[in-house]
Amino acid sequence: MFDMSVIKVTNPATGELVKEINMNTTEEISDMIQKGHDYFYTWKELNAHARAKLLLKWSALIKEHQAEIAELMTRENGKPLSESMGEVIYATDYIDWYAEEAKRIYGRTIPANNDQKRIVVSKHPIGLVAAITPWNFPAAMMTRKAAPALAAGCTFIVKPAVETPLTTIRLVELAHEAGIPEAAIQCVNGRGRDVGDIFTESPLIRKITFTGSTPVGKSIIKNSADTVKSVTMELGGHAPVIIAKDADIDLAVAQTIISKYRNAGQTCVCANRIIVHESIVDEFSEKLAEKVKELRVGNGMDQGTDIGPVINRGAYEKIAAQVQDAIDKGAEVLVGNKYDVSDESSYYFVHPTVLKNVNVDMDIMYEETFGPIAPIISFNTIEEAVKIANDTPFGLAAYFFTNDYRTGIQLHEKLEYGIIGWNDGGPSAAHAPFGGMKESGLGREGGIEGIEPYLETKYLSIGNV
Ligand code: SIN
Repeated sequence: MFDMSVIKVTNPATGELVKEINMNTTEEISDMIQKGHDYFYTWKELNAHARAKLLLKWSALIKEHQAEIAELMTRENGKPLSESMGEVIYATDYIDWYAEEAKRIYGRTIPANNDQKRIVVSKHPIGLVAAITPWNFPAAMMTRKAAPALAAGCTFIVKPAVETPLTTIRLVELAHEAGIPEAAIQCVNGRGRDVGDIFTESPLIRKITFTGSTPVGKSIIKNSADTVKSVTMELGGHAPVIIAKDADIDLAVAQTIISKYRNAGQTCVCANRIIVHESIVDEFSEKLAEKVKELRVGNGMDQGTDIGPVINRGAYEKIAAQVQDAIDKGAEVLVGNKYDVSDESSYYFVHPTVLKNVNVDMDIMYEETFGPIAPIISFNTIEEAVKIANDTPFGLAAYFFTNDYRTGIQLHEKLEYGIIGWNDGGPSAAHAPFGGMKESGLGREGGIEGIEPYLETKYLSIGNV
């Protein structure tokens, strides 16, 4: 239990206070849960076409406020303004997609094995949904959850990350302005652990959807067991990028940069291990290092910034430790700095780095980096590349570059990953299923798959016909 307190939202590029917001008390959160639960019985009765119209209005309002929301996002998250502008549209893509999917929540009939029977299968919203969203994509990770929930007829309550609550608060205000009732979509502010416990313990919440780290996801799964909640988990990743000997090297370099350096390397799907055929490793590494040298690090509000700050000092220190460990074990720094963690002035800015001669004894080969560091390791056979790529408990995204369709098909079949980019470093899209295998998560978000977790299946057997 916790008292009323405040969250200080600071700009990671400057350390300046952006805004202070009140945390909700336990009682307030319980009241909001009750309100969301009670309103579910009204919201689910609104027909799918009417829900779709409200969602489209919400999306249109967000687009109208694109510049304002993007600026807010850059100030609380640090990412370059151009990326924030792009994220606002990525966020509305989910709303637009699920507004249409609301109208396609189909059931089916099944031929019975008895002339007097009829079998009908229908889909129904699961109930009140609670979402816990991360700081790395404050807009898109929220709408990726809210849009299918609301479209399905569920009510929704979201707890944004303490680092970046302002974007979410604004999106929820705009939802209300668009006519989505206050009880249908609510925002709760508090510490992750406290609010997470209230959510998991509440029998009124029927589903939890979470994007964040694997350890936190595991504890939410465990804590949800007592009330047998449905869970969707989008957890950590450690994406391999395999570059085969026949690959188009320039394309592989350009797409690796997109994957690796978006949001300063702070995405769950970003390239974390670059596994290059030994015959092209020198050429690839030099070309990558040349391009990476051109990336400009700075305040996301400044025009021309490619790489903003990382989110906080903890992130900075983790990245610095991985780089140091790799150097100590023999990695060569092709571009980048050594980090002085005692130098307060450099906190939060990590220079994009390329490491060569990486080997499987280095921490960076197993720990998610969440920073702009590109470690390169070489391989000889495709079997060896697959072994390195799959040697991790994670299974979110993987990438490979080859123009040989046999190699491509083999890699697609053997890689144990939920999302695979073939000659493509940016596969994320609202219309496609996003999610991981192994300890990277449960369920999928986006695409036609992304609305299913918000629906229950009812089977009706009619007899005596
Ligand atoms: C994430 O990092 O969790 C999401 C990235 C994306 O949607 O591309």
